[in-house]
Amino acid sequence: MKKPRCALLSLLPVLAIAQNPPIAPVVLRVDAAKVTAHVSPALYGLMTEEINYSYDGGLYAELVRNRTFQDSADTPEHWSLVQDGGAGTIALDRTQPLNDVLPVSFKLDVATAATGSSNVVSRARVGIANEGFWGVPVRPNTHYRASFYAKADKNFSGTLTVALESNDGALIHASAEVPRVSQSWHKYEVTLTTSKVAPTSATNRLVISTTSTGTIWFDLVSLFPSTWRNRHNGNRPDLMQLLADMKPAFLRFPGGNYVQGHTVETRFPWKKTLGDLAARPGHLNDSWKYRSSDGMGLLEFLEWCEDLHMQPVLAVFAGLTLDRQNQKPIPAGPELQPFVQEALEEIEYVTGDTSTAWGKRRAQDGHHDPFPLTYVEIGNEDFFDRTPGSYDGRFAQFFDAIREKYPALKIIATTKVTSRVPDVLDDHYYKSAKQFQADVHHYDAYDRTGPKIMVGEWATREGVPTPNLGAALGDAAWMTGMERNSDLIVMSCYAPLFVNVNPGGMQWRTDLIGYDALSSYGSPAYYVQKIFSLNHGDGVLAAAAENIPMETWQPPKPRNSEVAPPPQPVPTFFFNSTRDAKSGTIFLKLVNTAGTPLPVQVELSGIASVAPNGDAIMLSGAALTDTNSIADPMKIVPVESKVTGLAASFTRELPPYSITVLKVHPR
Ligand code: AHR
Repeated sequence: MKKPRCALLSLLPVLAIAQNPPIAPVVLRVDAAKVTAHVSPALYGLMTEEINYSYDGGLYAELVRNRTFQDSADTPEHWSLVQDGGAGTIALDRTQPLNDVLPVSFKLDVATAATGSSNVVSRARVGIANEGFWGVPVRPNTHYRASFYAKADKNFSGTLTVALESNDGALIHASAEVPRVSQSWHKYEVTLTTSKVAPTSATNRLVISTTSTGTIWFDLVSLFPSTWRNRHNGNRPDLMQLLADMKPAFLRFPGGNYVQGHTVETRFPWKKTLGDLAARPGHLNDSWKYRSSDGMGLLEFLEWCEDLHMQPVLAVFAGLTLDRQNQKPIPAGPELQPFVQEALEEIEYVTGDTSTAWGKRRAQDGHHDPFPLTYVEIGNEDFFDRTPGSYDGRFAQFFDAIREKYPALKIIATTKVTSRVPDVLDDHYYKSAKQFQADVHHYDAYDRTGPKIMVGEWATREGVPTPNLGAALGDAAWMTGMERNSDLIVMSCYAPLFVNVNPGGMQWRTDLIGYDALSSYGSPAYYVQKIFSLNHGDGVLAAAAENIPMETWQPPKPRNSEVAPPPQPVPTFFFNSTRDAKSGTIFLKLVNTAGTPLPVQVELSGIASVAPNGDAIMLSGAALTDTNSIADPMKIVPVESKVTGLAASFTRELPPYSITVLKVHPR
């Protein structure tokens, strides 16, 4: 977070208001001795799925796109032929499969490889090139691990050159030789190291070429830069760092719609995402209309949790797909039983020791110890299932089987059920900022005797591809309500998490974190998530505000309604106060959604003495449309400052369009 250039500046709001309050302040009364609810330690987490090139072309560090040549049945998408002084052809080939799960290989026929002076020969190459995910990132002094399977026909006896080079081939950033290619499939690996003058750029490609004639087949062509914690098959460090900085408590995965698929066949196929990459067929992610390599498989999700100290919240396929017109939900009973069994096995893969079949499989895959697991979610958004009694029946069947085998697990339902009592209900909200602001008391009077709540997907959908400041203000307002009710709301997670901002990368607008091949940034909404997650203490304090300014809002017309609803007053000030029992620090979250400054007079009771010095973290901007981007990643970021003049009663001016966390310490 940015530090202010002059610490004195941060004192000004408090002093200025004390001398000459411009408008009547909101009075915020906080009783520091009255804890109304415990803040759930798992309140702030992450939700993820393969959408917007979240993993392939995103978090998963693989740089080769369409590495197993299955993205299209007809054309080698993202691959091209390189002919520098020679001639050849490329084609998808189903006659030379690498194995049963990777049935398509890529055939390079080199017909002529020019000869001549040694200078000419060195450029007389024919090869295959991969364009990466909107480019291949190159940085100076960097190691890359390139690997591929290849076999050659008997006419080929040359070497292969693997190169990381500019798209026009003019700059070779790094290259390495494979001296011989066998006539049966073998895996070849080389390290590519860029020089210290290699330009940081994404306009690059991976080329595997030869100067000899003959035929070579390729499959599973891969290029990895270094990864977070140097995990093999691991994750992109800049994105992991952004997530780590949020200190998320949990990861809800693998969807979302991604767990469901458009059809049963295209649900998240967790068993086929395990083990060696050459044993993973990948699958059509028809929920979001592109193919998934499944390099981010079940174990990788779990290791991602492990790396960031998040607890996994595992969603299992529960019989409802997205093609609801043509596919009825699988009915409860014998037809559903294989999927219940599949879920039990998945849980065993996560939690079983090596005496269990799937625990043993996990150990073979490289992770001996079981992962901790508390929550399992049955399906996704089953409120879309209009078949009477369907989810009730399906949920009961999953619930009973899981409860019997894993009695300690907490089971999440995706909509209300009457057949069983779920431990947690998953609520989803995608709204405008004003809708969230109008609904901030949603959970205040909610039934506390039923299941707990996970707000498992939500976002203010304003701003493309990532949310703007107006969205962040909508989020912050809504989050004050969730935090105030976090005795009930045990978990919450924004969705979607990621977007590759390149043209064609986005399927869902308004995503928390944006990136391209080279760089990444957090949206204003990302920083709201972060500052809430890092500053919540463990107890909600009784608080009430007087004199809250209101503005008039015209709610959108409900669908199928000719009549516009009447304008509605919505507040422009939102708040929550929490306390950390151990340190006694009080966290005041103060949100001013208006375009004018707002003085807030804080009246603290139930605290013996307040330290005059405190801390503030503030996010604000000049306009609701202000945002961050690849070009301007730090336009809207939190600023930390020291404040003084704090007491049992003090006034602070909230800037226009601002979110402030004020940390008040006991003396
Ligand atoms: O977050 C995007 C999608 O929204 C999720 O996949 C789905 O669960 C919801 O409808």
